[in-house]
Amino acid sequence: MAFDKKKVVYQIYPKSYKDTTGNGVGDLRGIIEKLPYLEELGVDVIWLNPFYPSPQRDNGYDISDYTAINSLFGTMADFEELVAVAKSHGIDLMLDMVLNHCSIEHEWFQKALAGDKFYQDFFILRDEPTDWLSKFGGNAWAPFGDTGKYFLHLYDKTQADLNWRNPHVREELFKVVNFWRNKGVNSFRFDVINVIGKDEVLEDCPVDDGKPAYTDKPITHDYLKMLNAATFGQDQISMTVGEMSSTTIENCIGYSNPDNHELSMVFNFHHLKVDYDNGQKWTRKAFDFEELKNLFHTWGEEMSLGNGWNALFWNNHDQPRALNRFVDIENFRNEGATMLAASIHLSRGTPYIYMGEEIGMIDPDYDSMADYVDVESINAYDELLAAGKSPEESFAIIQAKSRDNSRTPMQWDDSLNAGFSTGTPWLKAGKSYQEINVANEKEGPIFTFYQKLIALRKETPIVAEGSYKVAYKDSDKVYAFERELNGQKLLVLNNFFGQEVELELLAGYEAGQVLISNYDAPELAKKIRLMPYQTLAILVD
Ligand code: GLC
Repeated sequence: MAFDKKKVVYQIYPKSYKDTTGNGVGDLRGIIEKLPYLEELGVDVIWLNPFYPSPQRDNGYDISDYTAINSLFGTMADFEELVAVAKSHGIDLMLDMVLNHCSIEHEWFQKALAGDKFYQDFFILRDEPTDWLSKFGGNAWAPFGDTGKYFLHLYDKTQADLNWRNPHVREELFKVVNFWRNKGVNSFRFDVINVIGKDEVLEDCPVDDGKPAYTDKPITHDYLKMLNAATFGQDQISMTVGEMSSTTIENCIGYSNPDNHELSMVFNFHHLKVDYDNGQKWTRKAFDFEELKNLFHTWGEEMSLGNGWNALFWNNHDQPRALNRFVDIENFRNEGATMLAASIHLSRGTPYIYMGEEIGMIDPDYDSMADYVDVESINAYDELLAAGKSPEESFAIIQAKSRDNSRTPMQWDDSLNAGFSTGTPWLKAGKSYQEINVANEKEGPIFTFYQKLIALRKETPIVAEGSYKVAYKDSDKVYAFERELNGQKLLVLNNFFGQEVELELLAGYEAGQVLISNYDAPELAKKIRLMPYQTLAILVD
């Protein structure tokens, strides 16, 4: 099992990419239609969020059948065609495997509810709930029918946690992965995979909403080794990524060090919490550069030393757009978008691009709560009100933090609904679509810069393979690192602010060559000046 470090992944939220039927929901045929666009961008793998049958209470992360296609998105024949056509464009598919929980509409849960003991042991049932909180608000246990028992749901109350201690559960889940492998899929993203390991005896845990009681349990590593051996580990080439919730570097090295035969790489979210006030998501605060820089440095360096591998990303379907969080978009959208891109595409790990990022999409700027669909956002709004915040303040927080910010329709052109759908979109298009859209941006500075970065990773071994070393550790404006491979060195400087910064180049780099920058390449000298949001990468042999 090996994966190619030259590859770049592009994430598609199928519901919002391209609707070919006019029902307001994106579909698999829409993705097929856009494959030439993706090939032009240069990406190698597309990760698709879940498109399986689901009541859509959590937009498809509540799966009621793991091995079928939700008719909203198309048919199995469409999927098979997608795999084949993608291959002809040199693109692999990465499927989203939600194996921690299933929908309560899944037949396993339904049989359990009807009294079938075999299936009751598929879930985590207890006589007394613990004090753990659900990640979507409220207690993490719900009554199991009228049995007097409770079932665990770390997420929504319609997403029942599966009992991985039960070997039959593991066997069924491994069959799911193999079903898709048999369809020609060799890459997988495993949803919240570091919370699958639960103890036999579950206890109250008043710390951090109960997270320590079920996060990164040592047995999770055993389960991942079993999953690997029974499924994708049998393929010559495969790429796997685990979504790790509230995790540690030590565990992430364990999950992704190739010697352990668990996963190719890991997502962690610490860098996307630097604008949380007091660690709380539903707050508003400017991002803390110091914290961001230190997190990148610690993760970059320690993963490099421990031979772990990071999935690098700024955006996904659970995050507001990074441009709104980290960049002065009024004045520097192009510069900020390209700098953010370089800061991860030139770093050590596999870069992920979330649909629309390559054209600099921003948050939708909705006017009212009625525009939001996401269950987490709606619950959070109610909780903010209940905690005594005014409707205006609560709404401002939702506007800044809602997951719907990134789930809005892909902006293809300036026609109605951003060219996404001729029907009524399931979620309204963002207000910016008349200016920010593929038709306008494709020859523009952001899209073409992404093309260059993706090509650089393929052509320049130090970008794909080099080690990571902290640079300019004490800078309060510039996030910088060095890469090293076979005596070659690459310095990457990223100005995270809208003001110019002067710095003294590290020894040796004034004789180097500029590999890429989002401004005209400057004259290299002992002292250099970085422009607002400038990124500058210098190579020395
Ligand atoms: C992951 C998904 C998110 C989903 C949750 C529960 O965090 O990315 O969208 O709501 O898991 O499955």
